[in-house]
Amino acid sequence: MLKGISLAVARGELISLIGPSGCGKSTFLRCLNFLEIPDSGDVRVVDVTVSRTGRRGWLRADERQAHQLRAHVGMVFQSFNLFPQYTVLQNAMLAPRVVKRARVQDAEHTARQLLEKVGLGHVLDRYPQTLSGGQQQRAAIARALAMKPDVMLYDEPTSALDPEVAEEVLNVMRALDDEGMTQIVVTHDMRFARAAADRVLYVEGGKIVEEGPPETMFAEPRDARTRRFLRTLL
Ligand SMILES: Nc1ncnc2c1ncn2[C@@H]1O[C@H](COP(=O)(O)OP(=O)(O)OP(=O)(O)O)[C@@H](O)[C@H]1O
Ligand SMILES: [Mg+2]
Repeated sequence: MLKGISLAVARGELISLIGPSGCGKSTFLRCLNFLEIPDSGDVRVVDVTVSRTGRRGWLRADERQAHQLRAHVGMVFQSFNLFPQYTVLQNAMLAPRVVKRARVQDAEHTARQLLEKVGLGHVLDRYPQTLSGGQQQRAAIARALAMKPDVMLYDEPTSALDPEVAEEVLNVMRALDDEGMTQIVVTHDMRFARAAADRVLYVEGGKIVEEGPPETMFAEPRDARTRRFLRTLL
């Protein structure tokens, strides 16, 4: 359960969420695009705000607002979640075709460009199961980018991957950071959090216990709970 989390993320920031299992990292991420409906609170992305008062149910109008908000938000999961019956290229074309009614040529052009960019230009016609985990995750990132999101959310994107392959995925995220993409990353990869994040948030018991730049968070955390968590990782 989340308890009064408040967070403002600036355009272009890369935020890492860290914390023990069950502390609410995934729940928080899912609340940001209303895959999980919070009891109360506001989420604003670019020019769309969705508010919950807690007193009334989730209405059709709320779902409409959430739908608009989701158009600004891309999400990547630990388990890739690619559509197994579609090729890599088709996976990256589907949402723009269905949700935005993009023309085939346009959707294909964008999808090819993005897949090229994440290093998958040579496997466009392969099916997800025939690819390595790292390739599948990069395809999932390209698929999310095809919707031209303003923010990318990642829930442990490299936890299912071997270290070498994980690095390819992290490199894609670094490249997106360089281009100014706004990214929120739940991760157990402290090396990545330390090297790539602008800001690290330590979450415990459904709250943000401490936040700061990685240099401070890893070298001299103020809160005893953060210190204890980081010690367990060493
Ligand atoms: N829909 C829900 N309703 C109520 N409780 C939930 C719901 N989903 C998850 N929880 C609980 O909320 C807590 C936080 O879960 P969450 O999955 O967000 O943790 P996490 O930080 O992502 O953990 P992990 O590192 O293992 O992925 C857990 O105790 C979980 O059992
Ligand atoms: Mg989780």
